[in-house]
Amino acid sequence: MEVGAATTAAADSTAANLLIFVPRADDPLAGGPAHAIDALLDGALSLLVAAGELTGKRGQVTVVHTLGRAPMTRVLVAGLGDPGAIDLERVRNATATAARRARALADGTLDVAIAGPPLDALDETDLAQAITEGLLLGLYRFDRHLHPKEAPKSISGARILGHDAAALAEGVRRGAILGEATNFCRDLANEPSNLLTPTEMAARAETMARDTGLEIQVLEESDAAELGMGSFLGVAKGSHQPAKMIILRHRGGGDEPGLALIGKGITFDTGGISLKPSASMVSMKQDMSGGAAVIAAIGALARLNAPANVTAIVPATENMPGGSAIKPSDVLTAMNGKTIEVLNTDAEGRLVLADALCYANHLGLTPLIDVATLTGAVAVALGTTTTGLMTNDDALGAEVIAAGAVSGEKIWQLPMFDDYDDLIKSPIADVKNTGGRYAGAITAAKFLEVFAGDTPWVHLDMAGTDDADKDSGATVRGATGVPVRTLVRWVLDRAAKQKESS
Ligand code: BES
Ligand code: MN
Ligand code: ZN
Repeated sequence: MEVGAATTAAADSTAANLLIFVPRADDPLAGGPAHAIDALLDGALSLLVAAGELTGKRGQVTVVHTLGRAPMTRVLVAGLGDPGAIDLERVRNATATAARRARALADGTLDVAIAGPPLDALDETDLAQAITEGLLLGLYRFDRHLHPKEAPKSISGARILGHDAAALAEGVRRGAILGEATNFCRDLANEPSNLLTPTEMAARAETMARDTGLEIQVLEESDAAELGMGSFLGVAKGSHQPAKMIILRHRGGGDEPGLALIGKGITFDTGGISLKPSASMVSMKQDMSGGAAVIAAIGALARLNAPANVTAIVPATENMPGGSAIKPSDVLTAMNGKTIEVLNTDAEGRLVLADALCYANHLGLTPLIDVATLTGAVAVALGTTTTGLMTNDDALGAEVIAAGAVSGEKIWQLPMFDDYDDLIKSPIADVKNTGGRYAGAITAAKFLEVFAGDTPWVHLDMAGTDDADKDSGATVRGATGVPVRTLVRWVLDRAAKQKESS
């Protein structure tokens, strides 16, 4: 769907759907588009307010049909809650919820009016970006394998109506790039593993690279063997699908090698010989969400001409219990020479990431950020809406958390005290791949830290947040596309800060 911008007044919209926003207040209609539309409809909105049906409560969407009294077919009034708490995240979610509601009613276009109260305190470019993201994210459907009985209804196009055409166009451009990148990540993560093999993941990354001007290199198993990636290849041994180490480069300026975005790319996680129970296995087609996120993020950075050098690294393989699979108690040697005792083949994410981190260090990249659906333990600790962050550099971690706050993706830091180091000591190798019953998300991060070495590094464990079981605001059921927008924001903020200080 195309999103555009115009300076048309809300009352002049001829769209099938006009979306306006109201706060929760004694008079939710005071000023702005709500006031104008109420006048146009001879006080119909005021009547709904008086009846207590329209309150401006957060999440509320009231649909009012104009029945020929106004140029638009219907008006959707979305509540934003308390006026003091209205921010971009509320607008993004309200837009998504209202857009889905409009789509469920009938085919047609959608205009979103933002000029005047209650949004006039927010920057118009930022608003247009958040609304564009809300539209693209909220209306996303993964329906490529579906043959519905009736053609599904759709919003054919949307416009944002505001004051300043140039500011609006810039926000729409940024929002479209971020929304499309997030949906690209969702498409990869939602695709079942028989279709999205490591080979197919590399092929889709290649197509994206061609479209956006990124460099791409795919290391085959033989290349990985030459580099000494015994940990990554160990996981791949149980599968008939060839493993791929996917590498994408964006050169945005400067001579430094730049930073690394590393994503776990397990296209299906059976657990390997430490086989998962059936019920925990069904969602494991999404165990490459971290890899999908970094591929999508670097694509967005290329489209935005980000002034930074960025390399994305995705170790992609299945984790299968084949006849050649690694077994509990096997010892693997990673690219940096460290030996790993594999006590549980289901702790495979850290094994493939170990070599990806070594490879990033080998390329001289800094800082490193990895994103992975790494542990069920992080979901036990933080739930399904907050991503866990662990780092060897608290200042760097704070940058990522701040970028998440702007993007509306919640991130919370877990500690990395020395005490946890003992939990991954092995009597027969340099490190073991499980840390026992307690602090599972942290011991996984402690394992990764061994391979990040002294390079500033942040680890995001998104095993709780990569998937949603219901539609809610800009999140829709299935793959969430977390943390694509945070990664892009973090790289852009960093580049801006470096420019300032140089
Ligand atoms: N991919 C899983 C983690 C996961 C669990 C992601 C649930 C999404 C939802 C990971 O490879 C895994 O199996 N981790 C194990 C580690 C354990 C064996 C130390 C886990 O969390 O149980
Ligand atoms: Mn696993
Ligand atoms: Zn896994």
